[in-house]
Amino acid sequence: MNGILKALSHQKQDQIPCWFMRQAGRFLPEYREIRKDYNILQMFKTPALACDVTLQPLQRFPQIDGAILFADILLIPDAMGLGLYFDEGPKFQNPWTDKMNLSSIDIHQVIQNLQYVFDAASKVSHALTKDKVLLGFAGAPWTVASYMIEGKNPDEFHFVKKMIYQHSQKVHELLEFMTDITIQYLKKQKDSGAVAFQIFESWAGSLTYEERKEFSYPYLRKIFKEVDLPGILYYGQGMLPSQDLGFEALSVDWRVSLDEVKQKFPQKCIQGNLDPMALQAPKPILEKKVKDILENVKNHDAGYIFNCGHGLKPWTPVESIHTILNLIKS
Ligand code: CP3
Repeated sequence: MNGILKALSHQKQDQIPCWFMRQAGRFLPEYREIRKDYNILQMFKTPALACDVTLQPLQRFPQIDGAILFADILLIPDAMGLGLYFDEGPKFQNPWTDKMNLSSIDIHQVIQNLQYVFDAASKVSHALTKDKVLLGFAGAPWTVASYMIEGKNPDEFHFVKKMIYQHSQKVHELLEFMTDITIQYLKKQKDSGAVAFQIFESWAGSLTYEERKEFSYPYLRKIFKEVDLPGILYYGQGMLPSQDLGFEALSVDWRVSLDEVKQKFPQKCIQGNLDPMALQAPKPILEKKVKDILENVKNHDAGYIFNCGHGLKPWTPVESIHTILNLIKS
């Protein structure tokens, strides 16, 4: 059985499985080579290109256990008509406002507009060797809605916070809507060959403790309940979520203490924790940081998947990935 699936089903592991967030991306010279000829949206929307770059990290690093579909969490709002473009980060031509009428948006049509994602996923799953798996993913409703309302990378969360103070009902309507689309979207990824999925709540830290209970948890709970695949929750910015959301694995960033995570989530597989910045450290320092993590998770019986605490940076030295893989697979 593939190591990622084994860890997600909490079975005893003989080897530590591994994949990297943003493994398909700018740190790879072969990605930059293709990227020269296309803009990023063309790459997402052309299944043959998306398939090729999804497979690139597995070709270069055969020890990686899973492919993550080359797509983006903001493709759903794009398919809803918000007009995604990239200009020093993601932006929307038509950010969401409380005046927008969600009932005029047809969920089936939105899903149809995303057919290119499912086509790419099918291509990847057919191309993968039997020992590798395809991971699907989507953004968490709160994180995606933050981009939709701010219209760009949220820095202060000015507008989205104003919206939850002034029109919280409208925000809940939007989150409910995004949740339903996300469930359909992930089910289609499953039909196209994804065997597990990750939800990115990258902006968990923008909410207070009470607000997380209101704007994050209920929607995550619904997604993990409705999508019949093992789910991984990435909870960003040093935050730890509630235990009862229905995920199999918790992907943590580098700010948290693994001891605390093990104690709070004894039944959950853990993923991540290496600071992606450490990949620029000299080899002995990087090796020490990886070994410390491995030592710490050794007695966590519910499973561990190696990953960084966030996506790989564009400057990541390819050599650092070899260093990590050689260590964890030895
Ligand atoms: O390899 C993989 O991880 C798979 C593909 C993937 C992408 N985006 C491709 C991408 C995944 C899983 C994502 C998730 C995503 N997208 C998140 C959640 C993870 C996180 O970072 O917290 C978020 C917040 C986004 C939104 C987004 N898309 C941002 C902030 C950016 C960076 C903008 C920039 O110019 O660097 C993107 C663009 C993006 N998505 C790239 C890739 C490979 C950059 C590609 C390029 O310009 O070549």
